Amino acid sequence: MSSEVRMPKPHIPLEELQTQVANCRKCALCETRTQTVFGDGNPDARVLFVGEAPGKNEDLQGIPFVGKAGQNLNTLLEIAGLKREDVFIANVLKCRPPGNRDPRPEEIEICTPYLREQTRTINPEFIVTLGNFATKFILKTDRGITGLHGKLMMAGRFKVFPIYHPAAAIYDHSKWEALENDFVTLGQLLKQ
Ligand code: URA
Repeated sequence: MSSEVRMPKPHIPLEELQTQVANCRKCALCETRTQTVFGDGNPDARVLFVGEAPGKNEDLQGIPFVGKAGQNLNTLLEIAGLKREDVFIANVLKCRPPGNRDPRPEEIEICTPYLREQTRTINPEFIVTLGNFATKFILKTDRGITGLHGKLMMAGRFKVFPIYHPAAAIYDHSKWEALENDFVTLGQLLKQ
């Protein structure tokens, strides 16, 4: 057995990670993106929100959740007593998949080391996963969001709270009620 003392890996500052992401050419999404979308918000946030991937507006502005799904998210944050500047918002993928298609497994594998480092550096108490892709990645599960949303889980030292993707409510109003209820629960969890 080795008596070597293992030092924890140093955290990479967010600015340095952001530069790495901006210069990333590890997959073909770099050919079609306008710009990368690193994530945005409070670097010391207690809550990290993780979405799927930038859409058209996010790709143009370089900021996550600025389109219709983002308007829904802003409304929902208020229900939990949160403001965007309190939280950090990131995505599984940092570049827009063309036509907003689903992220591919190989893209997730290549891109998620960035999310992992962001998470280590921000070190939130809660990770709120928005929709199936983020939930499956963070919880390492094949279970779908329908069975998991609104239930508090753990992934390592992080409390994980899966919810429907805010875009799901654009086309299916029944999801809006579930989202509102889950944000009420999140607000209560944050007060504990
Ligand atoms: N949907 C996402 O999952 N992320 C965004 O940034 C925008 C829409």
